[in-house]
Amino acid sequence: MGPPGPMGLPTPPPLGASALPTGTFDGQSVLVTGGGTGLGLAIAVEFARLGASLVLASRSPEHLAAGAEAVQAAGAQVATVGCDIRNPEAIATAFDAATEAFGMPSVLINNAAANFPSPAEDLSPNAWRTVVDITLNGTFLCSREFARRHLSAGTPASILNVAASYAWTGGPGFAHSAAAKAGVVNLVETLAVEWGPAGIRVNGLVPGLMPHGDMTTDIRESLDRTPDLGSRQPALRVGEPHELGWAATFLASPYARFVSGHTMVVDGANWQRRTLTSPPVIPVREQMGRGPFDPGGSGPRN
Ligand code: HXC
Repeated sequence: MGPPGPMGLPTPPPLGASALPTGTFDGQSVLVTGGGTGLGLAIAVEFARLGASLVLASRSPEHLAAGAEAVQAAGAQVATVGCDIRNPEAIATAFDAATEAFGMPSVLINNAAANFPSPAEDLSPNAWRTVVDITLNGTFLCSREFARRHLSAGTPASILNVAASYAWTGGPGFAHSAAAKAGVVNLVETLAVEWGPAGIRVNGLVPGLMPHGDMTTDIRESLDRTPDLGSRQPALRVGEPHELGWAATFLASPYARFVSGHTMVVDGANWQRRTLTSPPVIPVREQMGRGPFDPGGSGPRN
């Protein structure tokens, strides 16, 4: 018998397990932007299991309803607020509603982000602006409102920005989102220093590939063009959304009180991979199955 084959990184403990003590977030409220679906919801649910009350903010009533149900099923109180994070007044109203429900949230998860794959040359000015406005400007505006309220009250708090590893590497096919996420990571570093003296920690969290049922058709189609996703990761598996939730709860917990200005990557080392020989370069248009660039084409999706 030969040596065992590569096993990859072991699977995590099951959904529902927790490394943190029961009740770690008792009496605290956590506001998650984009918390009704996907990875935002996976984060919300882990806080829910640990005793937090949750406030989910989203533009979509359907997402809010689905998210509220999942958080309640995890045993927590939940409130929902409609909010477009591009709008500073809507953000202030959301924090008012959150405070009314459970008191001022002590944790803000800046998870909401806009994204779709596109060759850079196909992006319309409005498509570029929309992604930067939601992902970067929205993250800043939510952080600013949250911090102002804690600075006024003199209360400690914690912010987590969900980022992406193409903030550091660039993201062919995602020029808009990668540039915005680079700003989001940079904000972690600046704001942690500015607000540390006031007791506010700011950290970042980068998910790896964690497929879930709420992925947009665009992004799902990109993944579907790649068979056997797990074998293409150094971990030889994809991540589970709750593995991101565990990292989020740790970073916001009392056990991470000396961790600030840090962006933690939860991706099984996928972003650091290099090959001994360079693989062939496949232009983004070809990867996306698009024809040649047509400057007179019919809009941003041509
Ligand atoms: C090209 C597009 C587009 C698409 C929208 N636009 N979708 N362009 N391809 N698929 C353009 C529109 O044509 C318009 O430009 C402009 O963007 C604004 O579109 P609206 O529909 O008016 O904007 P809005 O409803 O405010 O936002 C649409 C959205 C947003 C940006 C698509 O709903 C969104 O991002 N939803 C997905 C959220 C999400 O899944 N986030 C998590 C991403 S995961 P014109 O010029 O026509 O006016 C992630 C990690 C990356 O980020 C992992 C990679 C694998």
